[in-house]
Amino acid sequence: MVRVDFNVPLDEMGEVADDTRIRATLPTIDYLCGDGAKVILISHLGRPKNFDERFRLDPVARALSRLLNRPVRKVDRTVTDEVIKAVNELKAGDVLMLENVRFNPGEKENDPEFARALASLADVYVNDAFGAAHRAHASTAGVAKYLPAVAGLLLEREVSSLSRLLGNPEHPFLAILGGNKVSDKIGVIERFLDIVDALLTGGGMCFTFLKAKGFNIGDSICQEDGLDHCRRMLDKAEKNGTPFYLPTDVVVADAFAEDANHKVVSANRILNGWMGLDIGPETVEIYRDVVKRARTIFWNGPMGVFEMEPFSQGTRAIAEAIASSGAMTIVGGGDSDAALKKYGFEDRISFVSTGGGASLKLLEGSPLPGLEALLDK
Ligand code: 3PG
Repeated sequence: MVRVDFNVPLDEMGEVADDTRIRATLPTIDYLCGDGAKVILISHLGRPKNFDERFRLDPVARALSRLLNRPVRKVDRTVTDEVIKAVNELKAGDVLMLENVRFNPGEKENDPEFARALASLADVYVNDAFGAAHRAHASTAGVAKYLPAVAGLLLEREVSSLSRLLGNPEHPFLAILGGNKVSDKIGVIERFLDIVDALLTGGGMCFTFLKAKGFNIGDSICQEDGLDHCRRMLDKAEKNGTPFYLPTDVVVADAFAEDANHKVVSANRILNGWMGLDIGPETVEIYRDVVKRARTIFWNGPMGVFEMEPFSQGTRAIAEAIASSGAMTIVGGGDSDAALKKYGFEDRISFVSTGGGASLKLLEGSPLPGLEALLDK
């Protein structure tokens, strides 16, 4: 039984729009099939509360079958008689995919009954779902109590690559953090302030920091309940003597829309009625210069709303600077990865993590339940 993270984006036709996470598990699945295992795959897709037609795993099974170049049988349940029958019919090297595990409320509750029922289908549990390793769910953690449990090849690679940042990274070590939510990043900022040589910020989250510094941020996104955290982080950076870069200029717009009026303003002159949607050209130059000198770089979160052309320049420039830096570069998070792909820089990055939330949790030093469950064995 292999827990994978096939939580992938779907297109308007309901087919897989980005198969990165599926490709990343092929070494594990190929290895097991090649060794004559009967492989049962479990994954979630989206955040359904219970059964939801839109989140069935059929398109994912089709994409996997194409990539593996072998049939992948998909069943519409997770632990019913129909599933037991399908498992009993498996032959060496066959692959069976169960239905979206989150259709069962026992998954997110980490219900021991559900975990035991999943475990009863298999002889060995392999966790290769790094992207979901920060969730204490039945299929990511609970099931490991009832079966011999090991890490898959992707999980192992993720943990060892990310852990290199915490071990003995080459200096200067730079962290570049963006994206919308400051609350997701507080833990990792706190930890990074003890180990990095500089921290660069952008994206929606930097406006909470700018407000914490007393700037007027107009209608920019702000997490009011994160203001105190931001002040603490800025104080900590000052005490540690760690340069904490915030944008000096930003691209503002009068609406959250591709065709909104927009202009570049100084970061301390954002007027009401305007919102910051990208870092500005002066900031890009300053950040480029810091990136150029780094030997190790971790990047999580875009610098702006790069999906909209007028607000894409900051993310594009920073992605290019990272790719051209010659440093050891590690990127985490679906949005940063999507930006790398959009601009064609993905192949020039040392390691792109398949887990956004999970990579931040690991780097902030929080235990990952999916991993802990294996270490307990
Ligand atoms: C992710 O996409 O980050 C993982 O698949 C976890 O998904 P979740 O945030 O819905 O638990």
